[in-house]
Amino acid sequence: MKVTLFTAMSLNGIIARKNGDEDFLSNDNWNSFSDLVNSFQNFIVGRKTFEAVKNWNEGYDFDDFKAAKKIVVSGDHNYKLDGGYFLALNPKKALEILKGKGFNRVLIAGGSGLNSSFAKANLIDEVILNVESVIIGEGIPLFLSNDFELNLKLVDVKKISNSIVQLHYKVTK
Ligand SMILES: NC(=O)c1ccc[n+]([C@@H]2O[C@H](COP(=O)([O-])OP(=O)(O)OC[C@H]3O[C@@H](n4cnc5c(N)ncnc54)[C@H](OP(=O)(O)O)[C@@H]3O)[C@@H](O)[C@H]2O)c1
Repeated sequence: MKVTLFTAMSLNGIIARKNGDEDFLSNDNWNSFSDLVNSFQNFIVGRKTFEAVKNWNEGYDFDDFKAAKKIVVSGDHNYKLDGGYFLALNPKKALEILKGKGFNRVLIAGGSGLNSSFAKANLIDEVILNVESVIIGEGIPLFLSNDFELNLKLVDVKKISNSIVQLHYKVTK
């Protein structure tokens, strides 16, 4: 199973403001995410990201990815999800669910806590970062602080728009 982590962030690695807003990220980041979901036909998000995106404006809705298999990771066995979403109790279970549905590659879509859980379990094979042209002094970082280290090999750099550079890395294991 190949596991790809995608995130859009400020130049200094902030993925959302302290209050969860992502207003400093341009719309092209959502388009990048949509392209990846359409290619992978699946994604995995943490429970807090799932709840944050539910409150976003029209045009930014996980429900719009109708055909994609959507996994929400939460430690709460009783967490209720609408149709189209599957609950996984930890990262390994999330991968097992998608493997059982025939996938051999999966997309991790954050946030910070989930990214760290996957990193700590050494489950990430590839990292794609959209770097927005902004520096945000405080907020939620790409990875929640935890005891892990990933060594990377840079495989590609693309200019996505006038404000976004996309960095594509392989994790060397
Ligand atoms: N810029 C971007 O590309 C991007 C992408 C994604 C998210 N975000 C932003 O990031 C913020 C959310 O990030 P976050 O770090 O606060 O939360 P998060 O990573 O979305 O969700 C954390 C939750 O996921 C579950 N979880 C994580 N690891 C787990 C494990 N090993 N086992 C079981 N459950 C686990 C837990 O849910 P329970 O508490 O229910 O157990 C945990 O509280 C939002 O503001 C969102 O907008 C930005």
